[in-house]
Amino acid sequence: MPTTRILTGITTSGTPHLGNYAGALRPAIAASQRADAESFYFLADYHALIKTGGDPARVHRSTLEIAATWLAAGLDTERVWFYRQSDIPEIPELTWLLTCVASKGLLNRAHAYKAAVDKNLAEGEDPDAGVNMGLFMYPVLMAADILMFKAHSVPVGRDQIQHIEMARDIAARFNHLYGEHFVLPEAAIDESVATLPGLDGRKMSKSYDNTIPLFSSSVELKKLIASIVTDSRVPGEPKDTEGSALFELYQAFSTPEQTEAMRAAFAGGIAWGEAKQALFEQIDTAVSPMRERYQALIAQPELIEARLKEGAAKARSIATPFLAELRHAVGLRNLGSAIEQRSGEKAKAAAQPQFKQYREGDGRFYFKLVAADGSLLLQSVGFASPKEAGQTIARLKQGAAPREAADGLLLDGQPLGVLAGGATLAAVQDALAQLAG
Ligand code: TRP
Repeated sequence: MPTTRILTGITTSGTPHLGNYAGALRPAIAASQRADAESFYFLADYHALIKTGGDPARVHRSTLEIAATWLAAGLDTERVWFYRQSDIPEIPELTWLLTCVASKGLLNRAHAYKAAVDKNLAEGEDPDAGVNMGLFMYPVLMAADILMFKAHSVPVGRDQIQHIEMARDIAARFNHLYGEHFVLPEAAIDESVATLPGLDGRKMSKSYDNTIPLFSSSVELKKLIASIVTDSRVPGEPKDTEGSALFELYQAFSTPEQTEAMRAAFAGGIAWGEAKQALFEQIDTAVSPMRERYQALIAQPELIEARLKEGAAKARSIATPFLAELRHAVGLRNLGSAIEQRSGEKAKAAAQPQFKQYREGDGRFYFKLVAADGSLLLQSVGFASPKEAGQTIARLKQGAAPREAADGLLLDGQPLGVLAGGATLAAVQDALAQLAG
């Protein structure tokens, strides 16, 4: 059975919430159980530095929380590759190799960077005010994450699709220059996976401050659910499921039958308080067992650290040899190894006859005609100026034919030079024909 490599990362800059769980972790864990998949899930802590500059404790805490969440949610680390980005030094090294093929124009168009610049312009600021190079280079680091492990499929939210396209673009350019080393990845957007609404009905997101932390205590969970925004319909009045954050959250943690029962209850005029209580029970039941595992894990961070170290070793057993291959491909090589013949376009150029101009100790300007195989065909007379030498070369390239005279070759009746030892006029004419063609 052909295997699909699935890879995704979570930036370690916040506390996991219900939206992260339903939108990313839960489907990722389900995918990792497929027989035909190899899953690579990692903590994107280098990415976290971009938006947490100056808050190291936040990165540290978030890394622990997100790692514990993956484990508490049931990720089987024997089966998958589970690691922390900053434990893989090959990733920043690959980032540099990719940086050197990524066009700046491409990165100028990245949404997150552009949004920052547009905001500055709208506020009459310098376009680059407050923009660090981490934000600008974000897509290249992300491309390195993905390309390092030859991932085919990258499950991400819609806001990340552009980054996957950039990774493809950069990979294609690298492959074109250096050979087929990278797999071109594709974004995987699962339509059936819910984007959960937050407390205010907008998408649940750290940036809107409307999240429900995945592992809040039961008491806190209840309080947060009570604060979900609803309309003013009174008990007994039928309620809309369409556009109801409460209903969507309920659905994300319920079976289809439970969901249908709740839909009927909405139509039947269930009181908001009652619906909230039902939602609380539903989520609390789903989360409780994970919450216990999570608390136990958080209490033993050294065990999580050990798991991550194992995961890093497993990931590096792929990354280290692959990076060695890439280093060789771009020319970062052991000097003891033989220097190969020039390749690609340059090899084609070398396979053409060539004129080579130079100046001699007598102060005059000369040229040689060298055959495709590097052998010398013709040695010119000395010219008073480089311009004269150049004009003569131009005449030859345009098809003017040299003639053989007693003491050398003539062009348009003027002395041109001499045939090199072993060369013939026919060989010179062939070479000129090749250049003209
Ligand atoms: N940029 C992603 C996010 O914020 C996180 C991420 C970093 C990622 N590297 C990745 C996702 C590689 C997928 C693949 O959601």
